Amino acid sequence: MNQSESNSPPNSSAALIGIVTVSDRASRGEYEDRGGPAVKQYLDEVLTSDWHSVEKIISDDQALIEQTLIEMADEHGCCLIVTTGGTGPAVRDVTPEATEAVCEKMMPGFGEQMRAVSLTKVATAILSRQTAGIRGRALLINLPGSPKAIAECLDAVFAAVPYCVDLINGPSLQTDPRRIVAFRPKK
Ligand code: MTE
Repeated sequence: MNQSESNSPPNSSAALIGIVTVSDRASRGEYEDRGGPAVKQYLDEVLTSDWHSVEKIISDDQALIEQTLIEMADEHGCCLIVTTGGTGPAVRDVTPEATEAVCEKMMPGFGEQMRAVSLTKVATAILSRQTAGIRGRALLINLPGSPKAIAECLDAVFAAVPYCVDLINGPSLQTDPRRIVAFRPKK
């Protein structure tokens, strides 16, 4: 239930989610960004509580990635920021470094689980250094750039995302249990 589609005004009770495509070529318009729309479609299918998005397509520049993540967390107030791309071994792949540089706490279990599940589907999943961490009230999660990887990776970890956002005092994210059953331990 994405409320924003770029020009409608944000609902103050809705969660704000950042979607960042990190790709030199997509940022130059050399090819169409398919990663960002795949993240948005995934969230639209899975989240039943109101949310809206702030989206950016940027180059594989570490300072720019850091600045974008900081802006989305601190100025926009995103509770969740999902990046796609720049997690591999190539020289320009620096999204995990940028993520780590801006986070106060790393959440290594997200990357471990996404790689473990992805490895059952594709041998090259081992090439992704994707990670996750916390900056203030935002959970940052890296995904690989391949559009196919997006649902595979988010399916692997999304059950834990709403409770993680609860724990950092974010909005209460609700999911469609036919897609993802959010796990919240009983107090
Ligand atoms: N994970 C999943 N689930 N599916 C994929 O297709 N591609 C891999 C890996 N992880 C892939 C995946 C490949 S080929 C690479 S090079 C790394 O992610 C890094 O991708 P990135 O640099 O686009 O982030």
